[in-house]
Amino acid sequence: MLTGMEIVKGILVVLHLLCFGAMLGITIAQFKPAAKGKGVIPNGLIHCAWGLLITGAGLIGTVYAAGGAPNNLKIAVKLLVLIAIIVLLFVLKKKQPVKPAGLGAVAALLVVNVALAVLWA
Ligand code: HEM
Repeated sequence: MLTGMEIVKGILVVLHLLCFGAMLGITIAQFKPAAKGKGVIPNGLIHCAWGLLITGAGLIGTVYAAGGAPNNLKIAVKLLVLIAIIVLLFVLKKKQPVKPAGLGAVAALLVVNVALAVLWA
């Protein structure tokens, strides 16, 4: 039987993953327009990055509240990578149209963070 806090944590993980999935999908969807010189950084991409940050912060709270101990070093590294992504998104948005290389950097950093999240025990 799941406790209330475990249910809240589960909902936050779902939202966290939806934000990640949406970010990767939106980024990949821009490659074709970017190859034609029409690539953009949609506002939704930046909103999802904030969503990852907010749900991540909420998750830290629920991990403690459910009696667990979060891996602080892993979270710190993930936070730094996400901050790098957010800064990069703002820089790329200012310099639109965005080039495929810029999108590639965003996608690569997203993949780094999901790999860290899953593979760093
Ligand atoms: C691109 C950015 C991010 C990606 C792709 C990502 C991905 C994930 C994934 C796949 C999980 C589920 C696997 C797991 O339990 O470890 C997860 C859990 C979690 N994430 Fe993230 N994350 C990102 C950013 C962040 C940030 C910025 C924070 C903190 C501010 C954060 C905090 C957490 C926490 C606390 C958990 C739960 C860990 C646990 O159950 O002990 N994440 N994340």
